[in-house]
Amino acid sequence: MSHAEEEHESSRRDFLYYATGGAGAVAVGAAVWPLVNQMNPSADVLALSSIRVDVSSVEPGTQLTVKWLGKPVFIRRRREDEIVEARAVEMSELPDPLARNANIAAASDASDVNRALVQPGNDNAEEWLVMIGVCTHLGCVPLGDAGDFGGWFCPCHGSHYDTAGRIRRGPAPENLPVPVAAFVDETTIQLG
Ligand code: FES
Repeated sequence: MSHAEEEHESSRRDFLYYATGGAGAVAVGAAVWPLVNQMNPSADVLALSSIRVDVSSVEPGTQLTVKWLGKPVFIRRRREDEIVEARAVEMSELPDPLARNANIAAASDASDVNRALVQPGNDNAEEWLVMIGVCTHLGCVPLGDAGDFGGWFCPCHGSHYDTAGRIRRGPAPENLPVPVAAFVDETTIQLG
């Protein structure tokens, strides 16, 4: 295959990954993530600096993907085993040691508790994980429930994220970022 043909094949594959990623991310609830055009936010979307998302229908082990400021945001309600697995990881095993959580100090470490979002009235404080769903390598949308660490997998160049959205293997340099987010009541998360 010539170089040009290889490049064509490669971009075609990337496109397919994007399409598959979009389809995989669609879940029940609020704004459903549209296919492929995730990098082309409309003006009205950009104008929204904060949105509220009803998460009452999100069961443990599932996630909702909403569009916020032109980007997909993954809102995952983790199962107990996902939390246990994330908590068991030593900080020394993490390629990116920082929490990357806009809600806490920038120097905070990437421990599981520093990645999770606390829900009022929920004894399981680390159940919820909210992250910008854009690979920190070159911006593809990672697939959920995938990869070698049970979290997310970016098939564009093979980055594996764990059940706390932390990069564990592959070219991505940073953990998936946690945006400004908070529960405003027991079942509503505000982004921004
Ligand atoms: S964009 Fe995700 S691994 Fe390259």
